[in-house]
Formats: sequence, structure tokens, C-alpha cells
Amino acid sequence: MSTLAIHGGQPVRKSPISPSGERFGDDEIALLTEVIRSQKLNCNAGTRVKEFSSAFGQYIGRAHSWMVTSGTAAIHVALGAANLNPGDEVITAPVTDMGTICPILMQNAIPVFADLEAGSMCLDPEDVVRRITPRTRVIMPVHFCGNACNMEALTAIAEEHQLLLIEDCAQAFNTVFAGRKVGTIGDIGCFSLNQSKHISCGDGGITVTDDPELGERVLLFSDKAWPRSGTRRDHLFLAPNYRVTELQAAVALAQLKKLDAITNTRRDRGDLITSLLEGAPEIAPMHVREGDECTYWFYWFRVPSERRNEYVHALKAEGLPASAGYIPKPVYLYDVLREKKTYGDTHFPYGYAPFRDPENEIDYHEGLCPVAERGLTEMIRFGLSEFWTEDDARDAAIIIRKVAEALA
Ligand SMILES: Cc1ncc(COP(=O)(O)O)c(C=O)c1O
Repeated sequence: MSTLAIHGGQPVRKSPISPSGERFGDDEIALLTEVIRSQKLNCNAGTRVKEFSSAFGQYIGRAHSWMVTSGTAAIHVALGAANLNPGDEVITAPVTDMGTICPILMQNAIPVFADLEAGSMCLDPEDVVRRITPRTRVIMPVHFCGNACNMEALTAIAEEHQLLLIEDCAQAFNTVFAGRKVGTIGDIGCFSLNQSKHISCGDGGITVTDDPELGERVLLFSDKAWPRSGTRRDHLFLAPNYRVTELQAAVALAQLKKLDAITNTRRDRGDLITSLLEGAPEIAPMHVREGDECTYWFYWFRVPSERRNEYVHALKAEGLPASAGYIPKPVYLYDVLREKKTYGDTHFPYGYAPFRDPENEIDYHEGLCPVAERGLTEMIRFGLSEFWTEDDARDAAIIIRKVAEALA
């Protein structure tokens, strides 16, 4: 067994694995220039937001698709389209970005957290069933890190209980569950185009659906419920302005052309790492279901939590820029949720009669989702991008295996 770099041995890599490249270039500049020259920067004046929206819809196979200002906005628009009542419950994942959760509360609905499957950190359908109450209206799975939730089970649950299924695909462009792209399986799919995502325009989001009524409400909800095609100005219901500019759409259009190549490379590199880690002691790579395709927003694996820091230290010394965990704790332990810091000092919509029975109050506490909590203490992650070569992926696996064999 070779000596670890932290113990004075030769590191696997002389310089860290951190390939980079230009994500944005001439194609984006050309389209941006056209938009500027057109003098039309607003989506109702220009054509690029409409063009990107329908191109993305066609690309993933959804009849209605609309670009908005962020992934958070895309989810808010989906919930606005669903027309929830205050106090309705949305079952979702505790390991995600706050962008999944804020829109639920902004629509005065209640986030309810179901636990995750240990191997994938994706929503556990059996626990979802346990969290259903008479107030549940929506299930919102988060396809964590480019890996699909069990959509067959979640669809069956949603159908049985007549719930809306809204997929948070912010981390999951071109992720495939049983032959179908995520975002095309539930009633609505939501994507993010922020800087860190597979494709980006700085900030942006997309909401997609096949349902014409939901599709119409998605459009309205992102533009103050102002039906632009009408002859008389009116605002049909309460809704924000999540209009995105033509500039962002120009960049997004250029990015969309690169998406296949980006997700194919990430999928291949990530799968290669996992295959090379087979049998490595103590290492539990993220589990991708047979037949599914993961597009690895980043790569993660688990180690025993008590030695995680030692692992991270050793991996870095060998040349793999790894870090511990993802978010520091499940979202329900953030102050905003645990202390219900919502609107002024009201804690609305929690505990507000007649919307909710204070007897059945929601309590976010440690231990609420034990599998998720444990997973966050065991997870090690590193960035994986389309700029990784096959050799980079092989070296990452060699490093992880070397460290595991020495520390296990
Ligand atoms: C799973 C998930 N949902 C929602 C969001 C929110 O997206 P945005 O940052 O574009 O608002 C993110 C962003 O990181 C995310 O990862």
C-alpha cells in the first residue's frame, strides 16, 4: 500500500484535479449582441425569451415551458399555478437549496419534510406516504445532484392521494428516470439556470408542464397575472413579476445547444468514477438506479462520519479538491424554519386558524428526518464538470481508493 501524501508519500497528482474551461464564449456574445442591437430587452417586447422557452420545452418534451428569473421563481410560479390555499402542505426534501422551500412559504403553504433514501439522498416514497395529511396538496421531489428520485413510486402515491407532483430539477438537467427525462414525469418541472448549474445565464429558471391550464397560469403568475393578449388591461389574481430579460434568454439559447455535450460528459465521468470505486473499503458512492442516468451536478460519496475530516484532508493532499458535506444541516434546522421567521412576528401561516389547527402544529426539530441528517454528516463531495477528462476521473477514483485503503 502506498504512503499517503499526508504522511509524506507521493501525491497521486502533482497539481489538483480542477479542470476548467470557458463555459460562455462567442455563441453567447453573438446572440447577446443581436439582442442589444434590437433595442428590445424586455420579454414582451422581444422574441428571445419566447424562443428559449419553446426551444427548451421541445428539447425535453413538454408542451408548455416558460423562462423566469431564477430556479426559486420557477418553483414559485409552479406553486402559484397550482393555486394553493393558505395552510396547504407541500411534502418535500430536507436536503436541498432554500430555493425549494421559500416559494412554499411565500404562497402561505407549509413545507413538510419527508426523509431520504440513504444511497441517493432522494425523497423516500415510503416516508412521503407517512407524512401525508388531509391538508397535503403537493409532493415536490428534489432530484438531488443530478440523480433521479423514484418517480414511479411517487407518481403512484400522487395519483392515489390526488396530489400534484412538482419536480425540482434545478440540479438535474437531462437526468433520466426509467427512460424518461425528469421534469417530464410529474405535473410540473422546475429548472434553475444560476451560475452553478449545468447550463446558466447567470440567473434564470424554467417551469414546464403539459397541462394547458397550468401552462396558462404559469405565464400569468410570472407577469402579475396580466393577460397580455387581452384587449382590456386587467390583472386576474395576485402574482409577482418574474419576467426575465432578453439578455438572459440570449445566453440561455446559446447554452442550450451545449447541454447534450455537457450532461453526456458529466454522466460518463461520474459513472466511470463509481465503477472504479467498486469494492473500495468504507466508500459508499452515490447510488444510481439501474437504467437511470445521473448527470452529476457534483459527485459525492459517503464515509464514516467520525473519520470524514481525515478523509477530506487526505484526499486534498493527494490532489482531489474534496470538501465535507453539502449544506451544513437539513433545511428545517435553519433559523427561518425552526423559528418560523416568516411575516413580521406573526409566524404566519404556521398555526393560523382557520387555515390550520394549532393543535396539529408543525415542529421542525433535530431527528425529524434521521437518514437525511446522518447522510449530511457522512457525505464528501467534489465538483465534477464537463471539463474533466477521462484521466481526471480515473485519477479521482485512484485517489479515493488509495485514501480509503489507508484509512479504513
Ligand atoms: C435543488 C434546488 N432547488 C432550487 C434552487 C434554487 O435555484 P436558484 O438559485 O436559481 O433560485 C437550487 C439552487 O441551487 C437548487 O439546487
